[in-house]
Amino acid sequence: MSTFAGSNSGLVSISAPLQEAFVVDHVDPNAPGPLRSLAERVGRDLVSNSQALTRHGAFERESWTSKAAIALRLLTVRPFSRLRDIAEACRCNYDDAITLVAAINRNREAARYLVKFGGDAPYRRSTIQPIAESGAVRAFLEGTYRYPFTVGIYPAVSCMLSCSFCARARGEQYKSEDVIPGNELFKQLFAEAPRDLPRRFYLSGGLEPLTNPGLAEVVRFAAGFGHRMQLYTNAMMLTSRFLAKNEGLWHLDTLRISMYGADDETAQRTTSRAGVATRVLANARDLVRAKSERGEKLRIGFNHVIQSGQIAHLRKIAEALVSIADQSPDRRGINFLTLRENYAASGEAAISGDERERLRDELIDLQSFFVAEGMKEFEVDLGYGMRGLVEGVETAPVRRVEHTDMLGRGYPQISVVVDLLGDVYLYREAAFIGRVGADRYIIGRLTPELGLAEVLQRYLADSNRFVSPRAGDEIFLDAFDHAVTAFLRQASDDLHFGSNLSGVPVHTGLYHPPANLWR
Ligand SMILES: C[S@@+](CC[C@H](N)C(=O)[O-])C[C@H]1O[C@@H](n2cnc3c(N)ncnc32)[C@H](O)[C@@H]1O
Ligand code: SF4
Repeated sequence: MSTFAGSNSGLVSISAPLQEAFVVDHVDPNAPGPLRSLAERVGRDLVSNSQALTRHGAFERESWTSKAAIALRLLTVRPFSRLRDIAEACRCNYDDAITLVAAINRNREAARYLVKFGGDAPYRRSTIQPIAESGAVRAFLEGTYRYPFTVGIYPAVSCMLSCSFCARARGEQYKSEDVIPGNELFKQLFAEAPRDLPRRFYLSGGLEPLTNPGLAEVVRFAAGFGHRMQLYTNAMMLTSRFLAKNEGLWHLDTLRISMYGADDETAQRTTSRAGVATRVLANARDLVRAKSERGEKLRIGFNHVIQSGQIAHLRKIAEALVSIADQSPDRRGINFLTLRENYAASGEAAISGDERERLRDELIDLQSFFVAEGMKEFEVDLGYGMRGLVEGVETAPVRRVEHTDMLGRGYPQISVVVDLLGDVYLYREAAFIGRVGADRYIIGRLTPELGLAEVLQRYLADSNRFVSPRAGDEIFLDAFDHAVTAFLRQASDDLHFGSNLSGVPVHTGLYHPPANLWR
């Protein structure tokens, strides 16, 4: 029986100095601390010692130092701050803000500090960097065609749960006659897709993918072309019998089970259905046992959405995971846990204030818990906002953009989603069938004659096609879309002003701003 005994619950809390140092309001740029010393370095870089000997020079240096302290604080607390945010916080014009950012980037210590502790850092490491390295950001900025860095395949027909935070339109589903032609379109897509990025495709949806009766065959087919497929599922249907009839699922690279609770009562609060935890945990145990018996390589992971008011439940989730791992030798049959915040949550639904500090303590406990249980290789992925929290820096919930920041032509070189009808969507949660206004974000439909590459090429060639995002359209973005959009807005500032905020090597004048950046 696993417990949290021996862990350091309650002993760790955000230290007062840290807390004060990273609150963005009430910034005193003169307060001593690491940011002030970095700011002083930046001030010295901008106003030399000989200049600082005059009264004007000394004043200038102090003024830059204060601005640098505020800018550094902002860049630490708020992921993907834009030039206007920095200018506003420092009460200066854009030119000064550009000078400031350039000086911060030039100063090795300040730049190094931001790489490690900047509010962007967790987003950049896990999401932005691989996209930029693939060349997709460059293609986006140049407005040229590139097969998307990541493609979501939404093959589901329906869903048997009704999760409180899920944006799916209740009562909406696909028709069973859509399944066979839809699966044929998916197969065609996998056969035609480039194989440069084997983990490009993931199977998820606004519904439950296992409700597609041909899914296992689609997975087997895709794997035959070298695609390392990842499936998101609530695992309600994933019984031993189901697996025996759907052997193709063993060709998945990764199977990620959404855990909506470790006990039926908690799971019911989220999913509105009785008996969910009992069923999902039993299915997961059977799956892990079968994996071990068959010697399969399938990576098995779990996803849990941490919600306000349910932080203590994390312990039960962790204990349930150990009981699942127990179905395999050395508890190695399960590979990772992804913990996510509700990216749709704002206001009271978001985890903030004292509760966020408790969350930090629990997360630290959780990591040591798995090690204590002998599961050293089990990865706990804290996503964007919570990783920084554990590192003692970023305490804000996951970064969300407004509809005014949304890009009316999306970023199809980076990400699109294809549903069972073959419709290609620009934003991930627009592809949840039946959501009002979501069809404005469809850029084309696959047919037996028209593949994804052609749909994208036609779309990119037609600069008159764009959506004017309306208030509320930000609901069509998931956490990935929010992060990518916030980053691309920084990059678009760089393109326009040469501000070098985003780290993308773009120079004003070299590029002609493509229409998609400015709409
Ligand atoms: C939309 S579901 C579709 C696949 C499947 N029905 C499932 O639940 O796994 C994909 C994943 O998104 C997560 N998700 C849905 N809405 C979310 C939200 N508002 N915040 C964070 N994660 C969310 C779900 O928990 C699930 O892990
Ligand atoms: S999160 Fe998944 S299981 Fe829950 S309602 Fe949405 S699609 Fe269904």
